[in-house]
Amino acid sequence: MQKIKAIIFDLDGVIVDTAIFHYQAWKRLANEYGFDFTPEQNERLKGISRLESLEILLSIGGIEISSAEEKNRVANKKNKWYRENILKMTPNDILPGVKNFLIDLKNTNYKIAIGSSSKNAGTILEKIGLDGFFDSVIDGLKITNSKPDPEVFIKAANELNIDPENCLVFEDAAAGIEAAKKAGMLAIGVGKYENLSNADKVIPDFNDINVFMIENLTN
Ligand code: BG6
Ligand code: MG
Repeated sequence: MQKIKAIIFDLDGVIVDTAIFHYQAWKRLANEYGFDFTPEQNERLKGISRLESLEILLSIGGIEISSAEEKNRVANKKNKWYRENILKMTPNDILPGVKNFLIDLKNTNYKIAIGSSSKNAGTILEKIGLDGFFDSVIDGLKITNSKPDPEVFIKAANELNIDPENCLVFEDAAAGIEAAKKAGMLAIGVGKYENLSNADKVIPDFNDINVFMIENLTN
């Protein structure tokens, strides 16, 4: 039986509700191209890097962009819209129950980390007052392969100096649950079971989660 020693949190959609800002920006782009983009389709983009997300969106709309330069231009446009929203964030935007849980974990000597595919993670953590709070932050600027590749979580475990089997991941994306399982970690899905059925457990939010529950989880 393996004891949990470190908790790795995804950021977008777990600590803060930025998943909705990503969706709104992608939908705006889709609408500019003349097609609609539904929340169900958006599930496929969660946890995936910006450029990979763009590829999926374009394939949904049947749009072809051949030049890498043009793809970057369009991805930058989406990012500009997205950043307009995250720049308005404050510590009040931390999702209910999260801050108290983080503080309790720290007080109980768990290591805590962020494992995110986003290149905007640093900006968000600063806006919500959590920069410098985590023992390790691995984000889209530090990885080569985004989720479902396990790289982000393996790097976090290495930086924390904790074996993957002693790590627990909280994730709102199917790609993130897959990444955590490939890394050999326990994975708790945050959201709807129908999107996260590969998780070891699914919780709707952080309202009812506490350190006692973590102490009773084993691989
Ligand atoms: C992930 C989100 O956290 O970060 C994805 O779930 C997003 O939706 C990805 O595409 C990359 O984010 P960014 O901020 O670098 O465009
Ligand atoms: Mg997420």
